[in-house]
Amino acid sequence: MKRIRNAESDGEHPLRYALIGAGIAGCAHLKAICGRKNVRLVGIVDPAPASAWKLGGAGREAPHFTTIEALLGEVRPDIVSICTPTRDHAELAMAALRSDAHVVCEKPMAMNLQEARQMEQARAAAGRLGLMNFSHRNVAAFRFARQLIQDGAMGRVTRIHISYLQSHLRAAGGRWTWRNDAATAGYGAMGDLGVHMIDAARFVTGLEFRRVTGLKRTWITERSDEEVRRPVTTDTDAVFLGEMQNDATAVFETGQTALGYGNCFRLEVGGELATVRVASELPDHIELSERGAGWKAKLKMKRVPREFPGRNRPASPDAIVDAIRSGTTDYPTFRDGLAAQGVLEALDRAIGTRSWMECDEQAGEVGGTQHGEPANLGEELQ
Ligand SMILES: NC(=O)c1ccc[n+]([C@@H]2O[C@H](COP(=O)([O-])OP(=O)(O)OC[C@H]3O[C@@H](n4cnc5c(N)ncnc54)[C@H](O)[C@@H]3O)[C@@H](O)[C@H]2O)c1
Repeated sequence: MKRIRNAESDGEHPLRYALIGAGIAGCAHLKAICGRKNVRLVGIVDPAPASAWKLGGAGREAPHFTTIEALLGEVRPDIVSICTPTRDHAELAMAALRSDAHVVCEKPMAMNLQEARQMEQARAAAGRLGLMNFSHRNVAAFRFARQLIQDGAMGRVTRIHISYLQSHLRAAGGRWTWRNDAATAGYGAMGDLGVHMIDAARFVTGLEFRRVTGLKRTWITERSDEEVRRPVTTDTDAVFLGEMQNDATAVFETGQTALGYGNCFRLEVGGELATVRVASELPDHIELSERGAGWKAKLKMKRVPREFPGRNRPASPDAIVDAIRSGTTDYPTFRDGLAAQGVLEALDRAIGTRSWMECDEQAGEVGGTQHGEPANLGEELQ
């Protein structure tokens, strides 16, 4: 079992943190990095000039590198956050791991399952930590629903219903971006939003996927990039079905063309004893069925209790710093990223062959360290 280096874990030395990708996701990571005591931002990597960055506030003035090799050659970060388009996640993560850095990676983990496997193998070989930024795991309502299920309040889970809908592809003035290009994004809505749904189904219910089938569509086929019309080569919408452990059934819908929806993630889980519903618009509330009520009774809105211990979650950069300092992991790991990537890959094959596909890639014991329980760091460092 490997141990975290003393210099990292003793809390005395500032941890050296680098940000890779200065876009929208990079903004959130930068804010957390700069807001953290005893953490020093040692560099920002982005091939674009600083004038094109979307970063605001503190931290922009950190040394700028145009490649990760230049960063790693000059400063040896203890941690990197990878906030680039999906195409580069695997290469950047493996370069960082080779130089002994811990990695926080944006979702989806990789372009395909093979890359995701290589990333987890590289992480394990390096004995470093790998955190996936499945950010909806931090929402109090989602965590409380999970707690209810773990406590047995739902009884056996029988049905899961999740939608994650956005409208930005039909919004006025929208431009073609890398998200519309399959060679850079890997997947459209099915991977960009779908991976959040897949992870939420696993995280909230503690059940793994057995098999999947689905359909995907590209409803917007072209977008403007400056003066040029460019093709949209990703899916813009997808629906899929999953069979989960214990025979639970799961229904999913995602899309970037759903008018009237800004950024709306809704999840419902039904069990033998109760139904619970949560929505990203109401992060501090759940809707729950009442025991013993008549069959026409509606779900009742409840506030997540203030004293619920899991309600306040740190941002991912804080979570990895906490893990290094404390020696315990409490976040979605690379193995969770790999499990979600396995479901995406099975789904893609199912859609391509108009059939059901088995999901072979499991994270390990459901409800164990893969789902964020405190655990000995050595388990992830094996
Ligand atoms: N967890 C979440 O809720 C969430 C939210 C938004 C985005 N994301 C994820 O974050 C990632 C980035 O998305 P975004 O919306 O910030 O994109 P973006 O287009 O706003 O920013 C991407 C940045 O990466 C830079 N870049 C491209 N290739 C690079 C490379 N090889 N090395 C360094 N920098 C490089 C670009 O120049 C750009 O500045 C994606 O994986 C996306 O799915 C996650």
